[in-house]
Amino acid sequence: MPGTTVDLPRTGRPVVVAPMAGGPSSVDLVVAAGEAGALGMLAAGYRSPQDLVGQIAEVRSRSEAPFGVNLFVPAPASCAPERVDSDTAATGVSDAQGRDRADRVAVAAFREMLTQEAAALGIALPVPDWHDTDHYESKLDVVEAARVPVVSFTFGCPQPDVVDRLHLAGISVVVTVTTREEAVGSVDAGADALVVQGCEAGGHRGTHRVADTPNQLDHLALLPLLTDLPVPLIAAGGITTAGDTRRALASGATAVQAGTAFLLADEAGTSAAHRMGLSDPRLSSCVTRAFSGRPARGLRNGFVERYDAYAPAVYPVVDQLTKPLRAHSAREGDLDGVSLWAGAGWRAAREAPAAHIIEALTP
Ligand SMILES: Cc1cc2nc3c(=O)[nH]c(=O)nc-3n(C[C@H](O)[C@H](O)[C@H](O)COP(=O)(O)O)c2cc1C
Repeated sequence: MPGTTVDLPRTGRPVVVAPMAGGPSSVDLVVAAGEAGALGMLAAGYRSPQDLVGQIAEVRSRSEAPFGVNLFVPAPASCAPERVDSDTAATGVSDAQGRDRADRVAVAAFREMLTQEAAALGIALPVPDWHDTDHYESKLDVVEAARVPVVSFTFGCPQPDVVDRLHLAGISVVVTVTTREEAVGSVDAGADALVVQGCEAGGHRGTHRVADTPNQLDHLALLPLLTDLPVPLIAAGGITTAGDTRRALASGATAVQAGTAFLLADEAGTSAAHRMGLSDPRLSSCVTRAFSGRPARGLRNGFVERYDAYAPAVYPVVDQLTKPLRAHSAREGDLDGVSLWAGAGWRAAREAPAAHIIEALTP
């Protein structure tokens, strides 16, 4: 990577163990990845800045291998409203400064729908927080101060001044892209490398605009559209075998980023309900906004059946609203109420030490 500290292949293997927020990317997994010659990634999403500080320190106390941290770029609209009118408390946003009225109406209707299920379980739903940035600025301060070798971004591209700040701290900046337009914009902003995320990828699609309908291009279709760009490309989506890695490298990638292949790894922090879902032969793959308002690939369960048609494209507000229901289902071990994020290659995921999975992905 030009002007940066980590050359991915020189970590030993052309494999990045994907950041997976919500539990799977444990410190154990990141350490195991680094020790096996891959690049491990801490997932800062949904985590407090203080937690992130602790995780970075723990990784460093256990391994000298390079590693990265992944951040969610907040959507501009989610930072906008400053004032909440008392008469709009149900939607948490004022008329004067709020989002598009259609979003507010859709969120209120969706909240009403979820409230019926929540009330039956004795769960109160939160008032939406339209200011939610997932502590983006504080987390930038954390990774800058810690001089983490690699910082990757999803859901958007950091502003050029942020990229400059991280470069000054010796940090490689990686941006997740799903289209040529996003890729060109990210290179223009100063990105050192791109994660090229295809439609097979598990978890959220990293589209830079929340409302965009993601394309149907897999990583092998996206790579040739980007090989003229002057940065390394890291292919992501459905990579579960050494053959997949070989094909991605032959199509112009410098490395691959695999997530789903590690969901059942011994070191992964994947919840018991999620692990059970991944082993359930009755489930099938789907893309849905039902859990968060952003399109994400996972396994089709009862929650998706009930809410896929109704969840508005408003992230992270929809994520906030569904969170207590998901947490309840996780506690109960109820597969039908949790998000079972997984890529199209989910049936290939297997229980094994991460080092074995990395070995199996290496050509
Ligand atoms: C459970 C899960 C959580 C994820 N969380 C994140 C995340 O926090 N940040 C991110 O950039 N990508 C996240 N992803 C997407 C991965 O970075 C990557 O694009 C994807 O796992 C590649 O596809 P695969 O799952 O088929 O290997 C997640 C994927 C999964 C399966």
